[in-house]
Amino acid sequence: MERLMITGGGPLRGEIKVHGAKNSSLPLLAAAVLCRGETVLHNCPELSDVGAACEILSYLGCRVRREGRTVAIDAAGICRHSVPEPLMREMRSSIVFLGAIAARVGQADLSFPGGCELGPRPIDLHLAGLRKLGLLIEEDRGRLLCRVDGRLKGAPIALSFPSVGATENILLAAVTAEGRTVLTNAAREPEIIDLAGFLNKCGAKISGAGEGTIVVEGVDFLHGCEHRVIPDRIVAATYLSCAACTGGDVLVSDVEPVHLAGILPIFEEMGCGITVGERSVRLRAPARLRAAGDVRTMPYPGFPTDAQAPVMAASALAEGTSMFVENIFESRYKHAGELMRMGARIKLEGRVAVVEGVSALHGAEVTCTDLRGGAALVAAGLAAEGETILREIHHIDRGYERIEEALAPLGAKIRRTGE
Ligand code: UD1
Repeated sequence: MERLMITGGGPLRGEIKVHGAKNSSLPLLAAAVLCRGETVLHNCPELSDVGAACEILSYLGCRVRREGRTVAIDAAGICRHSVPEPLMREMRSSIVFLGAIAARVGQADLSFPGGCELGPRPIDLHLAGLRKLGLLIEEDRGRLLCRVDGRLKGAPIALSFPSVGATENILLAAVTAEGRTVLTNAAREPEIIDLAGFLNKCGAKISGAGEGTIVVEGVDFLHGCEHRVIPDRIVAATYLSCAACTGGDVLVSDVEPVHLAGILPIFEEMGCGITVGERSVRLRAPARLRAAGDVRTMPYPGFPTDAQAPVMAASALAEGTSMFVENIFESRYKHAGELMRMGARIKLEGRVAVVEGVSALHGAEVTCTDLRGGAALVAAGLAAEGETILREIHHIDRGYERIEEALAPLGAKIRRTGE
């Protein structure tokens, strides 16, 4: 088992580039299933989750070529409609393949994703939306057996919560359905806009992505296209947190600053100087951070749940008390216990975490509890006095390309070792 060894203390300085968004890449790879013709995705990050999505595509019968950050997919030879259980377990978001496989092949057989580190992971909104489009779904001993009689049919669908995954699944099923789908209370995340932009390039007719109501006019088929994945706004937020924690001065580049609009005001509240460029954000941290105030996670364009853990690491070192309210996932404070092993003072009560800042954290042996929680421990370790040993770093590798190599040029003392 690999570990990260971090010697903390020094401020990070310099420029760091952000790779493509994991959460855009996965639905885009699922979308390739719909295309007759080759799909080429650029800026597709070299992450274990992207590897898992490519394995699913290969299993389905697609030809997949992956060279660095470019992935080419030819879905002409699709011959299967199921996703093996281990691949569903490895990456719960593989459920996003459901709508695409059903639309392309006329049937789909996937296992239920079940719970995960963040608590229960229901897919009721996905299933209700797909049923409205005419997908017949049977739930049988943990498997979802789905088939289409003829062709899916467009329909009005209203989501009771703007779920990102449900919005993606419904879009993927609706683009080649017969007739019009009007999706209300749709998720507005940048990843939805990226997916709709890709699908439109392939011949789909989608309008309103990024707004609460999305209208899809079904088309007969999609052709392939070349597409560049948007930058990962959560990776950007993580690097900004690392800079803030360490009292650093860092230019985070290759980003879409508008995607960070819900996050940057929190760093400003903490006393950081923020300079927004066309494709970059520079953060200059003060000698001591101020408390973050109230941080409430919300659907986009609010403060993202995925940035909660890394920002909590920064608030642990701030002067004063910060309050976090986690409104998206039920169980997303597992990192708090690990931060406390490093000297953080955090009180948890249900969806609320109260962080009383301390003047210093100390290194410790800590364990990544999930992807973003692991990233928070990296940020804390970089700021802590002494050495931090980070275990279970496979969580981090799901969403950050070789994080130690990315951070080292900023002066971070971080290295990967075998056990
Ligand atoms: C996506 C992101 C994840 C991010 C989350 C919220 C990917 C691969 N993952 O996850 O990183 O944290 O958006 O921004 O893009 N819910 C239901 N029923 C459903 C679907 C969702 O109750 O059918 C609930 C979930 O339990 C959760 C909330 O809705 O409490 C938000 O989930 P959702 O927006 O669907 O997140 P994901 O798409 O799973």
